[in-house]
Amino acid sequence: MSEVVSVAWKGDVDGHLELLDQTMLPLCVEVKTYQDTATLFEAIVSLRVRGAPAIGIAAAYGAVLGAQKVAHLPIAESSMEILKECDYLATSRPTAVNLFWALDRMRGVVRRNPGLRDTHELVRLLLREARLIHDEDRQMCHAIGEFGAALLREATGVLTHCNTGGLATSEYGTALSAIFTAQDQGHVLQVYADETRPLLQGARLTAWELQQRQIPCTLICDSMAAQVMREGRVQAVIVGADRITARGDAANKIGTYGLAVLAKYHSIPFYVAAPRSTFDLSIVDGSQIPIEQRKSAEITHGLGVQTAPNDTTVYNPAFDVTPSELITAIITERGVIAPVCEDRVRAIISS
Ligand code: MRU
Repeated sequence: MSEVVSVAWKGDVDGHLELLDQTMLPLCVEVKTYQDTATLFEAIVSLRVRGAPAIGIAAAYGAVLGAQKVAHLPIAESSMEILKECDYLATSRPTAVNLFWALDRMRGVVRRNPGLRDTHELVRLLLREARLIHDEDRQMCHAIGEFGAALLREATGVLTHCNTGGLATSEYGTALSAIFTAQDQGHVLQVYADETRPLLQGARLTAWELQQRQIPCTLICDSMAAQVMREGRVQAVIVGADRITARGDAANKIGTYGLAVLAKYHSIPFYVAAPRSTFDLSIVDGSQIPIEQRKSAEITHGLGVQTAPNDTTVYNPAFDVTPSELITAIITERGVIAPVCEDRVRAIISS
């Protein structure tokens, strides 16, 4: 089976970025080319590339695209321009901290190298850093998969939300990595995938990725999760995250918090899987995480068809925050955080 590749850099310092356009799935597998930050910005905002780690990786390559455009300028001038491009990309989406984490690393390369002979050298260093971010994510995802699969050993069915596989990361994913790794170990789980309203990442992307790997997937509407739990069809819930605070409160796709409440009621373990790049230790309380508000049309005109009267008032937060007390464990590439509390989070993530 060929791996899903959501983000790829083609060529060397004069190369370009390629993104698998996730808005076209599952009907069409289309890869688009990016050569400037403005079109990449649009791709992030419109979710052509999405999922917290994938956004960070794409933005890191975006800094390289920004640098290519000013490669003819002296280093002092080009550095200012590249930092501006990083600031610009950072305004594309507010919740996933991976975006800011990756761009901070790219800014660090610029700031540490003011004395380079010319900007071409800086472009080379930026590309090296972006590739490192990309490779590290690949390794982190595989490690998360190993720890996650161990936690799912007794389960036959699991419930997941949104999309957390290769499309959302560099390769294996976060929550889905646990399921893929379990399959690699000969343990095939029955996955219940929430369709994930309003943009249907579960239906369009997770069901597709699971099919690519011949993992049994049953698609449900988000509102069916309680019934699925009551019927005993799942022994675990596993999701990804877009930002996790120092005490373990976790922002993820809207609907995740409700699932955690349901899992608690049904005494089902609720796992969050995420790499180091998703933790924001500068925030303790989840209420401080900025929640992206998206356009009303995503609800009133889902997939382009009007499903609500004209001028209907809409509330469309793209994420919610699950408090740490509802999370059984957070699965990271450095190990499993359980119980989820500030001491444990800091011990594993800051070490
Ligand atoms: O709005 P999206 O599709 O970017 O939201 C993505 C999610 O909420 C994922 O669950 C999260 O980024 C984890 S991805 C490994």
